[in-house]
Amino acid sequence: MFKPALTGVRRGRLFPNMSVPALVSRLVALVTLYLTLVCLGSTAKAQHPTLIQNIDGRKTTSLDGLWRVIVDPYETGYYDYRYQPSRDGYFKDAKPKTESDLIEYDFDTSETLRVPGDWNSQRERFLFYEGTIWYKKSFDYKKPANTRLFVYFEAANYVADVYLNGEKLGRHEGGFTPFNFEVTNLVRDQGNFLIVKVDNKRRRDAVPTLNTDWWNYGGLTRSVKLVETPATFVRDYSLQLVKGSLNRVGGWVKVDGVKSAQKVAVEISEAGITQSIQTDAAGFAQFEFDAKLDLWSPEKPKLYDVAIATETDRVHDRIGFRSIEVRGSEIVLNGQPVFLRGVCIHEEAPFRGGRAFSHEEARTLLSWAKELGCNFVRLAHYPHNEAMIREADRLGIMVWSEIPVYWTILWENPDTLANAQNQLGEMIARDRNRSSIIIWSVANETPLGDARLQFLRKLIEQARTLDSTRLISAAMERHYVNGRTQMIDDPLGEYVDVFGCNEYVGWYDGLPEKADTLEWKTTYKKPLIMSEFGGEAPYGHHGPVTRRWTEEFQENVYQHQVRMLKRISFLRGTCPWILMDFRSPRRPLPNIQDFYNRKGLISDQGEKKKAYYVMKQFYQELQTNPSAGRVP
Ligand code: GCU
Repeated sequence: MFKPALTGVRRGRLFPNMSVPALVSRLVALVTLYLTLVCLGSTAKAQHPTLIQNIDGRKTTSLDGLWRVIVDPYETGYYDYRYQPSRDGYFKDAKPKTESDLIEYDFDTSETLRVPGDWNSQRERFLFYEGTIWYKKSFDYKKPANTRLFVYFEAANYVADVYLNGEKLGRHEGGFTPFNFEVTNLVRDQGNFLIVKVDNKRRRDAVPTLNTDWWNYGGLTRSVKLVETPATFVRDYSLQLVKGSLNRVGGWVKVDGVKSAQKVAVEISEAGITQSIQTDAAGFAQFEFDAKLDLWSPEKPKLYDVAIATETDRVHDRIGFRSIEVRGSEIVLNGQPVFLRGVCIHEEAPFRGGRAFSHEEARTLLSWAKELGCNFVRLAHYPHNEAMIREADRLGIMVWSEIPVYWTILWENPDTLANAQNQLGEMIARDRNRSSIIIWSVANETPLGDARLQFLRKLIEQARTLDSTRLISAAMERHYVNGRTQMIDDPLGEYVDVFGCNEYVGWYDGLPEKADTLEWKTTYKKPLIMSEFGGEAPYGHHGPVTRRWTEEFQENVYQHQVRMLKRISFLRGTCPWILMDFRSPRRPLPNIQDFYNRKGLISDQGEKKKAYYVMKQFYQELQTNPSAGRVP
């Protein structure tokens, strides 16, 4: 058996027990963090170090479709029998040269999987599979002169090691945010082979950590594209209303591959705006200008055609302009108090099950939310696909977007923090120009404690530095001060703009009637979004109102909930858990759950449960009389 020379020695005293892959990923995470912090140095430079903004506005070639795959539970394609990274792993796509050559894998005679798509819902035998699957895609690409080429992944769950033509491009950790690698000097006119090792194994130090109440769908869950740009191109930009203003646009642009300062034009032709700016020698420019614009809102989701142009590049985008802020316990959209009529959504595909990824699935889920009477959705518990956000922009639905800092992660682990910061940075980088997103959330149901508070404060500071135009929140802790009073005084409340709070009074906490005598208090003067509440029932399961799992019981939970919610003076938004039933490994109850969390107001087949109509009526009341939901 071949023994690679690099094992052992180099690690020496500095990182005694770290394997080379772990060492590399620690170094990559630290370098990315260092780069991000350098960028964070000045608010103006809130750009992401590598990510290309607005892929749909670029010249792209899709690599979606069938990919050859090798299932590799023992990571034989990556490690040798000494469990050391092998130099001759599957990323080499080796072929026997002679009849006596020993090659024990062959992508080209292996099975295929669809990309985009999780592997769990594509094959019965992969439903519970957690581990490594290798993906291979072959392609030819005649790259024109004076251009650059990148491979862009919209997401891969959870760790992706990416290789082109046998060369390592890099590794990405985090299952719900995009990443790209430059392949300009590696791509050939013909016979390219892109190989990705995707590993969705759960880890204690990861984000999320070992236990979640959603299915750990693995694979290349979202699209993969080749992105061709000019040698000097507009890599990133930000364009939004300046915080607190309704008629001043502020932003910046980062031109990549510059040798000197660049002329840039920001054009909003429909508004008669062409703003000329000059970058610095590094290709960065910041700008502000007055603009009389129709503001984006749920009632009028106005999007403008915007162009960012340089001497060599021109990028088009569709951008809405709106302001969002808090004033005391009011949430204020475009200067007017607003109540967020929301619902929570998991990125579960309606009807077919599995990770959703398409515009069509996004339209289905968001139109169900609109039909319910929503002007707001909480996309739980991780950044959803870009199609979902673009459709929310178009349909006029405000969005809460979240990173999967969920339940009890390792607060004192620096890698876990760097990982969470990286996911936050990528989430904000991808969607910073989307008017629908009004809230960045940094955590869900995380236990009180100093280490947790310090961890989350760092994320909040980062989010504020990366984007000062949106609100920051988290689904925080609350507690009983006596049998009838819930108190929200989580120390995290000090640092967020809006509270989120999850409560299951009537389901996990007592019976539905308990809500009738419950009062809610807080030590903060800030708005509350009840970010989760509800109960469970499979569609069509009927019986006495006192019997759990019946639609009647779930309906009753909601009736008592709505009456309680109306009595909370600082409530400014509601997000029942959840729009649609979704798969969860924590829900095995036969003939009731069957590995689905059945708290949906709608089944995974689009069937509306009785509780759906309780929320629909509440939201109708709020639309006809906005103060209906609130005690003055
Ligand atoms: C939690 C959690 C959700 C979970 C829900 C439930 O509050 O945030 O992820 O699915 O409760 O128990 O159904």
